[in-house]
Amino acid sequence: MELMTTYATQNYPVIVAHRAIDRLTEYTTQYQHVFIFVDEHVHAHWASKLQTVSETNHHQTFVLPAGEQVKTLHYFEQYMEQLLACQPTRNTCLVAIGGGAVGDFVGFLAATLLRGVDFIQLPTTILAHDSSIGGKVGINAAHGKNLIGAFHRPAAVLYDLDFLTSLPESEILSGYGEVYKHALLKGSEAVRTLETTYYDQPSLLQLKHIEQYLIDGIQTKLDIVVNDEKERGQRQWLNLGHTFGHAVEYATKIPHGHAVMIGILYQMIVANTLLDTKHSVGHYYHYLATLGYPLQLIETLTFEPLLKLMQQDKKNNQTGIRMVLLQAIGQPTVQTVPVDVLEVAFNTLQSLGKE
Ligand SMILES: NC(=O)c1ccc[n+]([C@@H]2O[C@H](COP(=O)([O-])OP(=O)(O)OC[C@H]3O[C@@H](n4cnc5c(N)ncnc54)[C@H](O)[C@@H]3O)[C@@H](O)[C@H]2O)c1
Repeated sequence: MELMTTYATQNYPVIVAHRAIDRLTEYTTQYQHVFIFVDEHVHAHWASKLQTVSETNHHQTFVLPAGEQVKTLHYFEQYMEQLLACQPTRNTCLVAIGGGAVGDFVGFLAATLLRGVDFIQLPTTILAHDSSIGGKVGINAAHGKNLIGAFHRPAAVLYDLDFLTSLPESEILSGYGEVYKHALLKGSEAVRTLETTYYDQPSLLQLKHIEQYLIDGIQTKLDIVVNDEKERGQRQWLNLGHTFGHAVEYATKIPHGHAVMIGILYQMIVANTLLDTKHSVGHYYHYLATLGYPLQLIETLTFEPLLKLMQQDKKNNQTGIRMVLLQAIGQPTVQTVPVDVLEVAFNTLQSLGKE
């Protein structure tokens, strides 16, 4: 399947297919220098496939520390200096092969190297169907996640589905968090279809029909980011579950999508209080428990440190903590949530496991 963005200019293709990596050459021939950056776990699993790509094209390859640990100023400086030592020109392309962490990191290198060179995303996780689209790139700071970054569109996204076969179970669960989020933004039919297909953990781990749901998720995200690239309006909806989720992720170091799922649950409780919605929190709690998300850690959380982290969220303004809430499935809104509502919702969240 091949999608194309619909910006006024600077559009890019999104190719979702088995062996999509074989098409990399089509998109790199025009560059004077091409540097490939690969997540070390991906490199370990797919060494021969990746060797063929770099040897056929004579591209230099850097193997990056796995996952989130690479998104630091320390590694940014290290790899930026290594790149500069290779005397790149503006006609350079960086290729990111890995999950969202590598995509964000390499995208930020590309956004800043010589004030911006092209980059191509080859996402290798389920979650990265989301992160590889839309051009948000960046790294973490001591003050919080993704606080240093840029908007920098990729030149192409080649989503090679073969990579998904080596994903550990926890990464399948993490990625599903964003697939489910996209369905919640789309509407009840999309949510029902997902819940019917993936009704327990074994059915999810088999990844049956995942290609179609990834494409649906990409389409939902594209529909939003093409209209609001710089997150002044509806792009904020994509942060559903992320205000509380980022805080939990930062505090506990659980995978991004696990934390987002807990954030989605929390948001349902906040919406029921603030907007008088009738979300069946018990249904969502039960569904997430059935899939094996670590809901038992909710009991170990404390409100104050999470509140501090939520107060640093980029969506906030002078009115306070801004959160995406579902007025109904498929109908997001962004609201300022008073601290007392956040605290009551937190207590309700903690009580769910005890019912
Ligand atoms: N830019 C955006 O719009 C956006 C959107 C959502 C999330 N994100 C970012 O994405 C990151 C999370 O991405 P992620 O969940 O893909 O995590 P990740 O990139 O940290 O990868 C998770 C783990 O899976 C391993 N891995 C990756 N692909 C593999 C494969 N095919 N086989 C075996 N192991 C593999 C990695 O080594 C790592 O250990 C976070 O940093 C988050 O902030 C960015």
